[in-house]
Amino acid sequence: MDSDRLIVVGAGYVGLVAGTCFASAGYKVGVVENNAQKLLSLKEGICPFYEPSLSELMKEGINAGKLKFYADQKSAIQELNPNFIFCAVGTPESPDGSANLKYVEEALKESLSIETKEDLYFVLKSTVPVGTGKKLQEIAQEKTNGKLWVVNNPEFLREGTAVSDFIRPERVVLGGAPEAVNAVAKLYESFLLNNRPLIKTDSTSAELGKLAANLMLASRISLVNQVARLSSATGGNIRAIERILQTDSRIGSKYLYAGLGFGGSCFPKDIKNFIHLCGVHGVESSIAQSIDTFNDEQKLFFMKDIQKEFPNPKETTISLLGLAFKPDTDDIRESPALSIAEYLYNAGYKVKVYDPKAMGNFKAWAKHLKDLSYCSNASDCLKDAKAVILVTEWQEFQRLSADKFKSLFKGSHIYDGKNVLAGEELKKAGFTYKGIGQS
Ligand code: UGA
Repeated sequence: MDSDRLIVVGAGYVGLVAGTCFASAGYKVGVVENNAQKLLSLKEGICPFYEPSLSELMKEGINAGKLKFYADQKSAIQELNPNFIFCAVGTPESPDGSANLKYVEEALKESLSIETKEDLYFVLKSTVPVGTGKKLQEIAQEKTNGKLWVVNNPEFLREGTAVSDFIRPERVVLGGAPEAVNAVAKLYESFLLNNRPLIKTDSTSAELGKLAANLMLASRISLVNQVARLSSATGGNIRAIERILQTDSRIGSKYLYAGLGFGGSCFPKDIKNFIHLCGVHGVESSIAQSIDTFNDEQKLFFMKDIQKEFPNPKETTISLLGLAFKPDTDDIRESPALSIAEYLYNAGYKVKVYDPKAMGNFKAWAKHLKDLSYCSNASDCLKDAKAVILVTEWQEFQRLSADKFKSLFKGSHIYDGKNVLAGEELKKAGFTYKGIGQS
């Protein structure tokens, strides 16, 4: 066995980024992906989703012989003989809000079948419910007599900046038995320059800490959105209010931008999981529940106004600029664009959509919304529309000046769901401009 070899099970955002970044740090890495079609493209160095600089890094790793892809754990283990197995499989949300651990359990089962004389570390990167690490450690203890150690290593990377978040993490968290945690900690030494903290703790705290971080960030977004609603109603300017909050060092500057609510595969799922766990343990969860329902409403912030201003939906075309849940990703999971498109479609409006990267994913999701117009660029999307909603703050939309709007958009209303357009200039140019939390 060789401690510079590791395998990663699951080539989703977390697994593929972790595997590729470990390979670029010099480790010999095997990434296991059981979807045959996905595996074929991974072997070619093609990333199955859009994530800046990941494909380039994958190709470098493959060419350097440091990164290889496998269809199953068994073949990866036979070839690499690793000490570390990173589990980065999905934990999808079950109908009751709990996380489904089927894939994690399958990955552990395969690791338990490895015959080895040395210690083996099963590192849980997947976001798992509190108590999972402890439970898996008990199973491992019973089946391997102390040869396999389970360590929680929650991931904090963001889509869109995943590679730099992994290579230069703000902190690394490891939870489990102290000796096992120390063994895994060695892998991260080169990532934690400039005294970045490595937090060693027990598995329960590591698991709960990950959920708490997402809940805390989501709560900040919901709170600023709550303030934005009152700001809209009272004639305030949320951009100024955000500055007032952000310049208070006790509050801090990040995750305080008002908008159409948070989306993605993490915040919404983790909050539901948190609520579920509170239920299981008899803990009151009204704060987390409010964030969950408030955020769903926030996605539809402009809908009442649109229905008031455009009471004849059949004669009204609305265009959506941006479909991804945030810029620099093609991920549309829980994106406000889905709720908005569905709402407008059900209300009878004609809807045109455009996104620089997420058209394919959106089309696949929107099969039930017949006759949507899919546009190949922003100009096309703005043409013939009476109103436009900016949903995702892609750079190319932020650059749309009042002059550009004048030449491309013959409609009247511009709804800025991310407060990134030059509102005053657009108003001067004769448009009705409405942002979030701006009078
Ligand atoms: C989030 C966390 O930020 C990561 O630390 C974590 O690792 C990840 O979830 C996860 O659990 O895997 P991510 O979902 O990729 O990362 O995206 P964020 O950049 O955090 O944005 C989430 C949502 O919040 C987006 O819809 C974004 O538009 C929204 N947001 C963010 C706001 O509405 N306002 C803000 O000020 C910041």
